[in-house]
Amino acid sequence: MTEISFPQSSARLRMGSSIGQPLTRREGSLKVRGAARFAADNHPPGMVHAVLAVSSIAHGRVTALDAAAARAHPGVIEVMTPHNVPPLALDPDAKLHPFMFRLDLLQNDAVRYANQPIAVVVAETLEAATEGAALLAPRYDVETPRTHLDEAGGFLPQAVGAGQPASQSHGDVKAGMAAAAVRIEATYETPAQYHNAMEPHAILAAWDGDSLSIDTPSQGMGMAKARIAGLFGIPPENIHIRSPYLGGGFGSKGLVSGPQILGIMAARLVGRPVKLVLRREQMFGPVGHRAATRQTLTMGADGQGCLTALTHHARTATSAFDDFVEPAANASNALYASPAIAISHEAVRLDSGTPLFMRAPGEAAGNAALECAMDEMALACDMDPLAFRLKNYAEVEPMSGKPFSSKALRQCYEQGAARFGWNGRPQAPRMMKDKAGMLIGWGMGTAQFPAVMFQGQARAVLRGDGTGLVETGAQDMGQGAWTAFAQIAADSLGLDLDKIEFRSGTSDLPDAGLAGGSGHAATVGVAIDAAGADVIGKLADLATGDQRSPLYGAGNLGVSARGGRLYRRDDAARSETYADILARAGRDAIEGTGTGAADAAARAVYAMYAHGAVFAEVKVDPDLGQVRVTRLVGAFAAGTIINPRMVQSQYYGGMIWGLSFALHEHAVLDRRSGRMMNANFADYHVPVNADVPSIEAILVEERDLHVNALGVKGVGEIAITGTAGAIANAVWHATGMRVRSFPITLDQLIGAG
Ligand code: MOS
Repeated sequence: MTEISFPQSSARLRMGSSIGQPLTRREGSLKVRGAARFAADNHPPGMVHAVLAVSSIAHGRVTALDAAAARAHPGVIEVMTPHNVPPLALDPDAKLHPFMFRLDLLQNDAVRYANQPIAVVVAETLEAATEGAALLAPRYDVETPRTHLDEAGGFLPQAVGAGQPASQSHGDVKAGMAAAAVRIEATYETPAQYHNAMEPHAILAAWDGDSLSIDTPSQGMGMAKARIAGLFGIPPENIHIRSPYLGGGFGSKGLVSGPQILGIMAARLVGRPVKLVLRREQMFGPVGHRAATRQTLTMGADGQGCLTALTHHARTATSAFDDFVEPAANASNALYASPAIAISHEAVRLDSGTPLFMRAPGEAAGNAALECAMDEMALACDMDPLAFRLKNYAEVEPMSGKPFSSKALRQCYEQGAARFGWNGRPQAPRMMKDKAGMLIGWGMGTAQFPAVMFQGQARAVLRGDGTGLVETGAQDMGQGAWTAFAQIAADSLGLDLDKIEFRSGTSDLPDAGLAGGSGHAATVGVAIDAAGADVIGKLADLATGDQRSPLYGAGNLGVSARGGRLYRRDDAARSETYADILARAGRDAIEGTGTGAADAAARAVYAMYAHGAVFAEVKVDPDLGQVRVTRLVGAFAAGTIINPRMVQSQYYGGMIWGLSFALHEHAVLDRRSGRMMNANFADYHVPVNADVPSIEAILVEERDLHVNALGVKGVGEIAITGTAGAIANAVWHATGMRVRSFPITLDQLIGAG
């Protein structure tokens, strides 16, 4: 990978010494030394091991389980089945709100998907529990599973994604199509993909009466606490969750999953601390996935290459027993200007686990299809793909007509294209070859992701010795959130970073909301910023109201805080240390709190998105059809950059996931049995280092005065978008073959030579 330097981010809105610095990961050394303790690394005294038994059929009923054989195995303590599960206070099939997902918790003998938990074996050792589970020898009544998007019975969902409408439109699509000089229609397929975090879902649960202590990875401890409290009928404050490190979440740890709850139930049943860790293949079912889609786009354009109409319809799968609908078509409602746009979704019920949010939910699959269709339309209009996108640049959000709070997409196109060397690209395919005879292709795609915020809280304390403490129950799932939050904390209190103690990762701290939707930095960052401002405001009151202070009479707005001192704004020579102010006031500490949340008034006026442009080079073997990505250049604008090193790493990760989407990931279901055929890392391909080329991520400067007080938009997911389409378009440019089914595999390119 190219090493680049990190210029001090000039995009930041706030003055301060920490925000904008490319600091290394706070917990990086712990992780590389193996000293970071993940949930499954805990082994308290008296702990026993639980192992899930999962169904080998996708639809039907368990008719027999040989629990006696398992119980008789040496070391086995108990076998939890529907006959002896501890009672729950809430039916796990209840859906009191849209984000209460139905969970399979051994309430009956029904099997709703392959790899569904059907029993839990608890034993003194992991080996004994594993052996016991193998002795259960389940028998089934098998019903024919529904396994494919072609199953009959597509229905109009009530909502898609996180509660967005299933269809939206503006303008007159029919008239736009009729007026078009050029029209295309194309259908793209994207497969089911599974969240394959390095760390599988794991839980260590220990009951003490009606109090529950849990080590488990969670992207949202507050929501997890509420869900667990409801299921077990205990007050949320009786639950203590520790989630210091996540080995990746990608959405699958956003809501507490069935297997995690089963670990808690097993601990209740045996009255000892229980550890339950999913095996890799058990993650293909009960913890969510990205649903397969089939997306049809139609476009019309006039003689100048301006879109006259755009439609995007997505057919997607959900489970037989719950509703999550991948919002793929939404990718088209805000990216390109068109006088008429219509997006719509339909869902099909399959006998699979319920799909869930997965890294750029909706956008990843939807943008891949949209960006391929834009490439096809550019060709139909005989235009360069970048020129075609610029021609249809949306100056306002197309559906709503709202202005963007900021949009540096043009700069992303310019800087990305310049760095990649896009100029001079031959428009026709199959025009470039290397010395070895490999076909070379260049493609591009636009990236876009909404600037989401949830709600989160933080607490800040300034201590008498002039040091600060900032606390929030936030999640670092590897993205570097804690490093960025400590930087924001330092600036919010006007302290150097080494004077700040930052505590996070447990559920007794202020609820930081959900680490998802690329909204964690914005949400928690604003909460920390506000908590610090609350403290500094109180400190300023103490000083400016005290005749003995050099700041006397300056008023709250008349002081600034940095380096552990308050300064008069009108006279920087007059200042006082925090410690002196507190000491004279006889105070040990000052505490403040802050909340981060979306500003509804600003969002009523402005559309808020991060943007980017991705350029890809591929080489295709003309004889074998093998595709190698050789270069990726992305340029992204996402408002204020708190830590350019962490953000660049997020962009790399996103682009690698885009590559994975384009060429690798594909969960293969056996259509007769409904069983997953590649539920392992040998057959479910994710990119390894050898698959990843030179990657560059350009951090494009952008100031956003409306999105939130820090100007932060979010960087976690955007780089997946743009990339998958860019690679697919490069494959076309290399070969002249348009593959509309992801992942693009060599069998689809046979004959490319
Ligand atoms: Mo994500 S799918 O917002 O963890």
